[in-house]
Amino acid sequence: MKITVIGAGNVGATAAQRIAEKELATELILVDVVDGLPQGKGLDMYESAPVEDFDTKVIGTNSYDVTAGSDIILITAGIARKPGMSRDDLQATNANIVKTVTEQAVAQSPQSILIVVSNPLDVMTYVAMKVSGFERHRVIGMAGVLDSARFRSFIAMEMNVSVEDVSAFVLGGHGDSMVPLPRYSTVAGIPLPDLMDQATIDRLVKRTRDGGIEIVNYLKTGSAYYAPSSSAVQMIEAIVKDKKRILPCAAWLQGEYNLKDVYCGVPVKLGRKGMEEIIQIKLTPEEQAGLNKSAEDVKASIAKLKL
Ligand code: NAI
Ligand code: 2OP
Repeated sequence: MKITVIGAGNVGATAAQRIAEKELATELILVDVVDGLPQGKGLDMYESAPVEDFDTKVIGTNSYDVTAGSDIILITAGIARKPGMSRDDLQATNANIVKTVTEQAVAQSPQSILIVVSNPLDVMTYVAMKVSGFERHRVIGMAGVLDSARFRSFIAMEMNVSVEDVSAFVLGGHGDSMVPLPRYSTVAGIPLPDLMDQATIDRLVKRTRDGGIEIVNYLKTGSAYYAPSSSAVQMIEAIVKDKKRILPCAAWLQGEYNLKDVYCGVPVKLGRKGMEEIIQIKLTPEEQAGLNKSAEDVKASIAKLKL
């Protein structure tokens, strides 16, 4: 398995470290536009191999030749939010970056699976699909795993229980209109509405929606990367090991959930072929309305793209 991570910044480098330490690849290529950055981080990471006991070969480069024949490409290149910025403020700059890196990466690895992280996530995943010309099962966006992990963490903190017993689903676009689903979120199998009052659920839902900006406001110079890199690597692991995990990911919808021609977070089955199935769960009219609104927001942003 050969994996390329594009963008050797906070998310990309941390994801690369997790991939190497989990030995998900025999060869791991870290690419960045900044001269020396991927080389330095790649070599430093590989020098941790004897101590951490992994045999993944890590190579940092500014050149796409080295990435040839990659099975999975993780796209994290782009600018990140600073306080006062929304994810949408990144759109014009990151669309150009994602377009350029996708063109170069898929020319070398035409059979690869693309996982996009760059923001605004749903729009950038669309850019990668459009530019690559790949089928939808090979172009997937990471956001739902992160948003659900945040919801799970907040539920565990609120109830003082192990995160291991908490599962949660957040669907929709990775923006202010994302759709946390308390009915499908459980603690040891018990649905959230049976465990806490509506006011508490509303508070945790709001904190989940604001989860990204909460970290931006603390860091001031950038955005979250520990949980985002874990989330991207969970998707990669599901693909590498053909695990058939059901995870919320941004998928190109073609009628599922009554939505068409839009990237939106929905539960999908991830295996060796990439997105192998979209799982359709029953939504209440209110939940469906939330998903529709979120998809409309993504569509409006896609309409503003100049590719
Ligand atoms: P960062 O600034 O630490 O790293 C970005 C890297 O991309 C930099 O090293 C930069 O040199 C590189 N880059 C820029 N243009 C490039 C190009 N043309 N080719 C190759 N590399 C290029 O940012 P960070 O924190 O790693 O975030 C990366 C992106 O991921 C941002 O857009 C951020 O908003 C997004 N993000 C998305 C999340 C999600 O849930 N989908 C979660 C966290 C971050
Ligand atoms: C986040 O949610 C910045 O989108 C990123 O942390």
